Amino acid sequence: MNLKIYENYESLSHGAANQIIEVVRQKPCAVLCLAAGDTPRLAYTLMVNMAKTEGIDFAKCTFIGLDEWLGISPVNEGSCHHFLRRHIFEPLSISNDKIHLFDALTEDPQGECRKMDKTIIENKGIDLMLVGIGMNGHIGFNEPAGSFQAYSHVVELDETSRTVGQKYFREQTTLTSGITLGLGHMLEARQVILVANGSKKADIIRRTIEEDVTPLLPASLIRNHVDAYVILDKEAGSLLTPR
Ligand code: PGA
Repeated sequence: MNLKIYENYESLSHGAANQIIEVVRQKPCAVLCLAAGDTPRLAYTLMVNMAKTEGIDFAKCTFIGLDEWLGISPVNEGSCHHFLRRHIFEPLSISNDKIHLFDALTEDPQGECRKMDKTIIENKGIDLMLVGIGMNGHIGFNEPAGSFQAYSHVVELDETSRTVGQKYFREQTTLTSGITLGLGHMLEARQVILVANGSKKADIIRRTIEEDVTPLLPASLIRNHVDAYVILDKEAGSLLTPR
């Protein structure tokens, strides 16, 4: 696992954006799984700007959704769907046939999981997965304990995710379950980037990097990946033991 600690959120975001651009430069038909969330927001804005100024074409890329709040409409501003459309797909004019996101309004969530797993196999796996980390150490909606499954699955949300998740919504919203790729997808992705910023993430980052690798702390599994990058700002890295 590679650890990079940047001076601040801006430089971290530049670093992450550069790394995504580099993957697409080398493989224009890359399969990308880019998480929604506050952490990568600026990285995506910078990535879109770089794509435009440097003429990097994302049109041949395939986009795989990491997770979604079950029961939340894609037009709801708090949905991952809405976030990805607004920050990535619309500015890069990605065509719908290149976008595979979980349908959170489906009446058959298990079928939706099987469909996503099949899509990933048909596209020959994920080239780059970029994820944030939850305050409880979750990746996507792979919550600590209870939901450790390799591939797409439905999960009952942890209390922390239900509470913290309110920040994405304008109004108080009932969040009970999610649909998510599994940690097997993360381990099988050819490259993984985990981004975290701010002092509020410092303790979970310390535990992720310095305590045991365990499904009780899903993010710690990134240390078993052969080409993984943990990209932090100074604040998120502030509790790490100096090397
Ligand atoms: P955040 O979310 O980037 O909004 O902090 C991270 C996550 O919950 O995975």
